[in-house]
Amino acid sequence: MAEHKIRTIGVLTSGGDAPGMNAAIRAVVRTALAKGRKVKGIKQGYLGLLNEKIIDMQSWDVSDIIQRGGTILGTARCEEFRTAKGQKKGADICKKHGIDGLVVIGGDGSYRGAQKLAGLGINTIGVPGTIDLDIACTEYTIGFDTAINTAMEAIDKVRDTSTSHERCSIIEVMGRSAGYIALWCGMANGAEDILLPEKYDYDEQALVNNIIYNRKRGKKHHIIVNAEGIGHSTSMAKRIEAATGVETRATILGHMQRGGNPTCRDRFMASIMGAYAVDLLCENKSKRVVAWRDGELVDFDIDEALSMQKNINEYEYEVAHLLSI
Ligand code: ADP
Ligand code: F6P
Repeated sequence: MAEHKIRTIGVLTSGGDAPGMNAAIRAVVRTALAKGRKVKGIKQGYLGLLNEKIIDMQSWDVSDIIQRGGTILGTARCEEFRTAKGQKKGADICKKHGIDGLVVIGGDGSYRGAQKLAGLGINTIGVPGTIDLDIACTEYTIGFDTAINTAMEAIDKVRDTSTSHERCSIIEVMGRSAGYIALWCGMANGAEDILLPEKYDYDEQALVNNIIYNRKRGKKHHIIVNAEGIGHSTSMAKRIEAATGVETRATILGHMQRGGNPTCRDRFMASIMGAYAVDLLCENKSKRVVAWRDGELVDFDIDEALSMQKNINEYEYEVAHLLSI
């Protein structure tokens, strides 16, 4: 029987955690073992790699995790790994531990790290794990579905009290540079206004006018879903209350959006994406990222994936506004 070129596969989670990362780890570990490879888990992302926090993983190490939020491997942001010296150290540590294939589960920042490792001779595959849905090459990122459902349920609750008190509510959702969570929740929660980093022109007078107009028409609530990238919800609430005379409160949902048990969709997608990443390594592919396009799994070269652009869908944004009248 021919020797496998890739004998040991490492797996790490990096950047902000996302519900479903555990399901992806489980899929990587079990697919690799099924294909006769050894598996090493790297704790705390690239930080753990540089600190050699590396453990052997067996099938039972990923038992009872598919339903859990967070990541059993832990995650981190690591400045040292942005430097050429840090990346060389990381590649040397992989070689020292016999890791010849590495699955990186994270966002596009984590992909840049994987790109550098690939350039230093480590076979790497990226799996999209971020609640932000902001990776251009893929229509799906692990964690997005859970995050929007968590945020949507929270916004429904705020809406109840907002309506009772006839208030305006500004609800801030995650997304520092991407407005997908805000757009989806804005639509699903029937928000009167949706503020996206990609779109908002800081015309606060337009918000004020809209609140006054809706009040005159008898609306008892006014929901503004504000993306973190716009931020400043508390001070915005004070200004809006002063300008409209309508009591206004700000609610910042924060990190609760990143936790919780993953939805069925996140578990399913994480499972097939994690397995596909291992398949790619076993086919001796490297410097690729797994993506979901037009209803199927595909892969791209990391350079190509990182050069792609993604924009908010104009039609979806317009419909969300139209339906909130
Ligand atoms: P995400 O992967 O969710 O986008 P970050 O952007 O915070 O999260 O990136 C996660 C980690 O990936 C960073 O802390 C850093 O260690 C690594 N990383 C990000 N950008 C680069 C880069 N240009 N070169 C090497 N490593 C990077
Ligand atoms: O993981 C993505 C994300 O949740 C963004 O939506 C948010 O801007 C950022 O991470 C928050 O990061 P931190 O956990 O460092 O506060």
